[in-house]
Amino acid sequence: MMSTSATAIAHPNIALIKYWGKRDAELILPNNDSLSMTLDIHPTTTTVTLDADAKSDELVLNGIRATDEALIRARRFLDEVRARSGVCEYARIDSHNEGPTAAGLASSAAGFAALAVAASAVYGLDYSPAQLSRLARRGSGSAARSVFGGFAQWHAGHGSGPTADETSFAEPVEVTRMDIALVVAVVDAGRKALSSRDAMRHTVATSPLYWAWVDSVGDDITEMRAALCHGDLHTVGAVAERNALGMHATMLAARPAVRFLSAASLRVFDEVARLRSTGLPAYVTVDAGPNVKVLCSTGASETVAAAVRAVEGVRWATVAQPGPAARLRADVRS
Ligand code: DP6
Repeated sequence: MMSTSATAIAHPNIALIKYWGKRDAELILPNNDSLSMTLDIHPTTTTVTLDADAKSDELVLNGIRATDEALIRARRFLDEVRARSGVCEYARIDSHNEGPTAAGLASSAAGFAALAVAASAVYGLDYSPAQLSRLARRGSGSAARSVFGGFAQWHAGHGSGPTADETSFAEPVEVTRMDIALVVAVVDAGRKALSSRDAMRHTVATSPLYWAWVDSVGDDITEMRAALCHGDLHTVGAVAERNALGMHATMLAARPAVRFLSAASLRVFDEVARLRSTGLPAYVTVDAGPNVKVLCSTGASETVAAAVRAVEGVRWATVAQPGPAARLRADVRS
């Protein structure tokens, strides 16, 4: 029997090799493969409840009823789930996010991964992890990777239309020897002025550096996979850092420029370079926001966190480690 309600938990992921730019905005097909680490902090817990009497879907985010873009995206996502399942009922989505929302801290990745898992369960879709990843992708590209714990590679897929849809999903990357932590240095927890979605669209359309960066991603993925396999933190960090800074370079060259990095972000970069000059493996990565994530060993993570907390403009710093896959919570009602 189909459940009327299902609850799922998912964690954010941070890309070590970034996704930046789509070849199909409707299906959310990226121009390049990306590779990420799911974190063990800031989970999103989402309950989807079918409501036979409802006239439309409802979204409640951290206790507040959403009426904006977030609601439009959630409804579009549930329309896709209904089309696949043949069940027409509307639903209420109740989502709690323990991290700051839309501040470049990957809240949409955790949000749509949790929604994909909960909605597929409640609408009776019996999906494999790869199918869940493909579905989560339709909500937000980076969500395709949060379906998995640890490390995951999202394949750009090939072709167009249904073939491309079939071939674009994330898969786990087996990593057994990696000692890695990620320190999130928050310089601004507010909602960002420009969404990742709009910023990447503008970059693809106007940046003369964009395709050069995409061309460099294949080598980054190959080197990253080898370094992860060997537990080589220096190479993991160096490749992640160059890939992220390259992505920001594409944005700085866009017309007009998109600049997410603030003076405080750059001060964190300087502090990380200083730590590295003392022999500590520490490298930065940054997403579509000013907050800086520092890759380091688990043993050095408290030292790194203390060092970045002392940087002017850093509001707080949190230590994260590889986290778990998205999952249904056991206390689902039937
Ligand atoms: C910089 O997944 O938020 O964090 O697919 O349009 O929803 P949409 O974009 P989104 O973009 C994430 C961009 C990034 C890099 C990454 O996570 O790979």
